[in-house]
Amino acid sequence: MKEIIPSPPPLVHNQHESVRQLFSKNVVPSYGRFDLVLSHGAGSYVFDVAGKRYLDLGGGIAVCCLGHAHPGITEALVEQSKKLIHVSNLYFTEPQGRLAAELVKRIGPGKCFFANSGAEANEGLFKVARKFGHDEGRFEILTATNSFHGRTLAGIAATGQDKVKKGFEPMTPGFRHIPFNDLAAARNALSPATVAILIEGVQGEGGITPATPEYLLGLRALCNEKKLLLFMDGVQCGHYRTGKFQSFQRILENVPGGEKFLPDGVSMAKSLGGGFPIGAFWVRAPFADLLGPGTHATTFGGTPLACAVALKVLEVIESERLDENARKLGEWLRRELERLAANYPQVVRRGRGLGFMLGLELVEKEQIPKLAASDKAAAIQFVNRLHQLGVMTIPAGAQIVRLLPPLNLTWQEAGEGIARIEEVVQALA
Ligand SMILES: Cc1ncc(COP(=O)(O)O)c(C=O)c1O
Repeated sequence: MKEIIPSPPPLVHNQHESVRQLFSKNVVPSYGRFDLVLSHGAGSYVFDVAGKRYLDLGGGIAVCCLGHAHPGITEALVEQSKKLIHVSNLYFTEPQGRLAAELVKRIGPGKCFFANSGAEANEGLFKVARKFGHDEGRFEILTATNSFHGRTLAGIAATGQDKVKKGFEPMTPGFRHIPFNDLAAARNALSPATVAILIEGVQGEGGITPATPEYLLGLRALCNEKKLLLFMDGVQCGHYRTGKFQSFQRILENVPGGEKFLPDGVSMAKSLGGGFPIGAFWVRAPFADLLGPGTHATTFGGTPLACAVALKVLEVIESERLDENARKLGEWLRRELERLAANYPQVVRRGRGLGFMLGLELVEKEQIPKLAASDKAAAIQFVNRLHQLGVMTIPAGAQIVRLLPPLNLTWQEAGEGIARIEEVVQALA
């Protein structure tokens, strides 16, 4: 009898360990990953393979703007995939044309090019700048210190942080960095070779720092005066995250002269597809035909499938007024983070942000006895402690914890997130 009855299957499959082993054996270890193995999600929540639930306040780094498993996205994927997934850019397709028109409508007169990621969207803008300055021998693009523009070779050259460049020198030529929000520094840095300035409206990876209205208006005037292109990287801060489609529209609302402001190029990705990969750049009308036939291309750029999903994401954001939600709930979250800074100055230096781009800045690790002994950065240890309490957030640098939640986060979920964050802060105080 004993021999013919198979032993019962183990009650718990140790998927966590087996998935980790698959990674350690087979996946290039270029990411520092947290010790979570995730299996599925619903709305603002994600579940790990053991069934533990997490409130996702990181949104896949500002990507999952409608949360997880949104029925609208599923429907768009299913319906479009039954019709046409890909045909190449040798032909016209309706979803790409319609999506371009929707982006143009929201930014200003110009045209769009579709790519697959944020880095690739920025690469396209670099090529617009090179083409624009080519015949005059101008090629140099100024970007800000602490900026982030992607991990391609030109992306790391453009990024104003040494840590992404280290080990990959020599850098692609043609990029120099200027201090962010310092107009005089921008003017002083210009050289005869300068052709463009690229900034984020709100620096994300650099730690949630919005550009000031004066800086944006001043850069526009400087670029007009010196015949330079002004580019905005809206990859992280765009797509209604700040309460307006692009962050510069939010920063400049009600600012005299702000209504006339338009950059010459805007890069987009992340929330554009709500999790489905798609990137894009918009270029202002006078420069929109600089990249003529044969000058720029990518196989998967603007497939009918990606564009159908992006169109659905825009439709849902607009019909559910998620821009207003990001603005109002973001304001409440920011005040709550500021309250934590006021109540626990021994742990939190400040709370800051715009809409659903929020940062909790911790004091130096050495000043928090419970974090000081570990060799891990304070932000990473804080994020790990939040994981234990079932909340996901994103570190930025050594001391900043970012919240980039889905635009349809509810007030109840926001309250839950703040309660858990306060628990961690209290435990460290
Ligand atoms: C502002 C900004 N630009 C560009 C990128 C690069 O985008 P991707 O990772 O899609 O290449 C990022 C990614 O975090 C970003 O935050």
